[in-house]
Amino acid sequence: MSRFFDLVSTSARNMGSVGASNPTPAALESRSQLIKLDSNESPFGPSARVVDAMRRALSGANSYPDDDCGELRRKLATHHKLPPEQVLVTAGSTAMLSLLCQTLLAPGLNAVTSERSFIVYSLAVQAAGAHLVEAPMRSGEDSFDLEAILAAIDADTRIVFLANPNNPTGTMLEATVVERFLTKVPGHVVVVLDEAYYEFALHFAALRKIEYSSSLEYVRQGSSVVVLRTFSKAHGLAGLRVGYGLGPAELLGYCARMRNTFSVSSVAQAAALAALDDHQHVQLVVENNAVQSRVLTQGLSAMGRRVVPTSANFLFCDLGEDAASFATRLLEQGVAVRPLGPWGAPNCIRVTIGTAEQNQAFLEAAGRAVARGPAGHRASSLARGT
Ligand SMILES: Cc1ncc(COP(=O)(O)O)c(C=O)c1O
Repeated sequence: MSRFFDLVSTSARNMGSVGASNPTPAALESRSQLIKLDSNESPFGPSARVVDAMRRALSGANSYPDDDCGELRRKLATHHKLPPEQVLVTAGSTAMLSLLCQTLLAPGLNAVTSERSFIVYSLAVQAAGAHLVEAPMRSGEDSFDLEAILAAIDADTRIVFLANPNNPTGTMLEATVVERFLTKVPGHVVVVLDEAYYEFALHFAALRKIEYSSSLEYVRQGSSVVVLRTFSKAHGLAGLRVGYGLGPAELLGYCARMRNTFSVSSVAQAAALAALDDHQHVQLVVENNAVQSRVLTQGLSAMGRRVVPTSANFLFCDLGEDAASFATRLLEQGVAVRPLGPWGAPNCIRVTIGTAEQNQAFLEAAGRAVARGPAGHRASSLARGT
């Protein structure tokens, strides 16, 4: 047995190893040419003004960052019409998720979410030594069953995670549905409304003439709700790690105590401050996303594949064949997508909506992968001895 097995905590032992999610070794070799549609990143990157702000911040990199992210926190507070005490800036919204789990959970306690949702919920809950209960989705549909989530809550539940829109299905819960749900959640449970894809969802909702989210109203009313937002998606800053939570001041105060010191770099803070004024860039990103979601949906549907209508910057697509093999055939052509076997959907992929050129390249590669079929892939793999 290994030297440290008996020394590490039970949670560390039970977590199971998490492989690097991407890129794959094959993809690494030609990363610069790879069309990366596997991680829901922005194909446009940060805007020029944000890059300028980062450049200016670099020369001050000898100093530690402001641990409290004071300027960014105040700007976010003004932006969201909340007091600064109701804002906590973290190294990506996943860091906020982890803080909530470390602060609210412990062995014997649990969190509840839906099956087929964001994979980090399970990692963050397990790292806190607690248990994640995954309620089933609506049968035959790709959306949450909120009644099943409510039914899964018990006396030991402290958190409910709702990704809205959900990753990987891209489905959205409308504001009135969330509101009704919140009235039924018992008082000992904090509801985390994960709005990582907020900007995309807002744009789609306006096009569809529906109401996406009233989440900040619940925060203003003092409900036991924490809203998560991030600069990783529409603002194109995934590599910098900056996101935030909006919620009750007292709870965020406890979370802040658990935070790693200096966890949000000065460059990330400068970039986020500039990105918050980036209305034009975000508009370009969300408009491209909506137009290109239609192009991709039509292309995949024309190949006889089922696509779930999205409210985010990716599509969930049922291929009707083994998705891992399909993804490998795409990767061999320089396009990375995410096969969803680990989410219990072995015939489905998640594909990030890219630029027009990237999407065209994806559709052409997908067409060739379909034509070649799984058997063709096996034969060529065998021929190369892979
Ligand atoms: C639902 C959801 N929440 C949060 C995140 C993570 O965002 P961040 O980069 O801010 O940690 C993602 C990223 O894919 C996501 O899909």
